[in-house]
Amino acid sequence: MGFVGRKRWFLAPLLLALVFVQGFGTAVSSLNYTNYRQVSTVRLERIQRHLDKINKPPVMTIESPDGDIIDCVHKRKQPALDHPLLRNHKIQRGPPERPRVKMVKQDDHRANKSSADEGVMRGSWQMWHRNGTRCPRGTVPIRRSTVNDVLRSKSLFDFGKKKASVSLARRKDAPDVVSANGHEHAIAYTGYLQEVYGAKATINVWDPSIQVVNEFSLSQIWLLSGSFDGSDLNSIEAGWQVSPELYGDSRPRLFTYWTSDSYQATGCYNLLCSGFVQTNSRVAIGAAISPVSSYSGNQYDISILIWKDPKLGNWWMSFGDNTLVGYWPAELFTHLANHATMVEWGGEVVNSRASGEHTSTQMGSGHFAEDGFGRASYFRNLEIVDADNSLSSVQSIAALAENTNCYNIKSSYNNEWGTHFYYGGPGRNPQCP
Ligand SMILES: *[C@@H]1O[C@H](CO)[C@@H](O)[C@H](O)[C@H]1NC(C)=O
Ligand SMILES: *[C@@H]1O[C@H](CO)[C@@H](O)[C@H](O)[C@H]1NC(C)=O
Ligand SMILES: *[C@@H]1O[C@H](CO)[C@@H](O)[C@H](O)[C@H]1NC(C)=O
Repeated sequence: MGFVGRKRWFLAPLLLALVFVQGFGTAVSSLNYTNYRQVSTVRLERIQRHLDKINKPPVMTIESPDGDIIDCVHKRKQPALDHPLLRNHKIQRGPPERPRVKMVKQDDHRANKSSADEGVMRGSWQMWHRNGTRCPRGTVPIRRSTVNDVLRSKSLFDFGKKKASVSLARRKDAPDVVSANGHEHAIAYTGYLQEVYGAKATINVWDPSIQVVNEFSLSQIWLLSGSFDGSDLNSIEAGWQVSPELYGDSRPRLFTYWTSDSYQATGCYNLLCSGFVQTNSRVAIGAAISPVSSYSGNQYDISILIWKDPKLGNWWMSFGDNTLVGYWPAELFTHLANHATMVEWGGEVVNSRASGEHTSTQMGSGHFAEDGFGRASYFRNLEIVDADNSLSSVQSIAALAENTNCYNIKSSYNNEWGTHFYYGGPGRNPQCP
């Protein structure tokens, strides 16, 4: 911090113009990510020091076709262990047990194969796997952060943080109130439940277009506990997001997020701060998901399960068919150290009204819920984990969208998809000016 407060900053004779250009492959986007920014050498040094802290020395490096650098980092060198509360943390190999699935009647299950199910291709995976090289055993794949990643955020402090609260904004549960901070949602939620120990869903993957670089569109699960009007809300979140600011492109990416103080000082996306412990060598958090669904074409989805290990209290996450990704150690939380009190599933976008009108940033597939399978995005098989560590279909949910002319949601139930919903929308349109 020796440089701060000295006039030297202003005198810095060398201003660097940074230009970055990326190969976007097949991603279609009208966004201009080229960022000509004047950056002082001092600022650059500060950013570099931060990056040196979060980018751990890799055992090996894999280049993804989308331009990402995936570092294979020794498990015990991962960022999580920099957390003051995790200095002596013993990395868990796996949870002692997984949630038990409550039996469903097989006959019912087979009889009604919904027509919607045809055309679903399971197993959307990650683009960097196309490289063909794997991270060695004992390492975890971590997406390397670059100077440009930091430069796109408002400040070094903001890098990796979620700007405003998702949930705080909609505390009043008043569907007509547009969130003050410009965050808009189309979500299903459990309401205040007694005690929840986990949640699951299978989420359709799309690549919604984003109007301006600092907006985003995400589709995720929230596990929440604490008070919404205080500063102690605990939240664990995971799903896919398109965030040009965070990643410098328009691809949907697997992400995680946590906070234990209402999105203020604690927590971050992915592994951009210490906290989340990764255990898997195949899944890179923050890496692009591929393939992606297309309109009236193949549909791809990802399954995410988050649950609390009843013995040690850690919150585990699995991806796809039971692939363990890692866990949020119990130590990180206050309220979530016990259990969650609410689960939410759905979409969120930022509407910054950059051109004085509602943003045309899309949610889900960019199509309204009514359009249904193959056109609108879905969440299916919404499930929660109860105190007995058993997983069952969520019985009653409420749905909420702030402005249904911009983005909406329609929930339903059938045997194959259990509790499910379609959601999303185009944003700006004649009814959503
Ligand atoms: C992107 O924006 C910069 C100015 O910020 C401009 O010079 C450049 O031509 C633009 N690139 C494209 C592809 O539009
Ligand atoms: C895979 O990653 C390695 C290491 O970065 C790189 O040299 C190689 O070109 C990549 N291969 C492909 C097919 O992208
Ligand atoms: C399943 O199929 C049976 C008869 O084929 C029908 O009566 C029932 O409504 C269907 N259930 C659902 C949830 O679609």
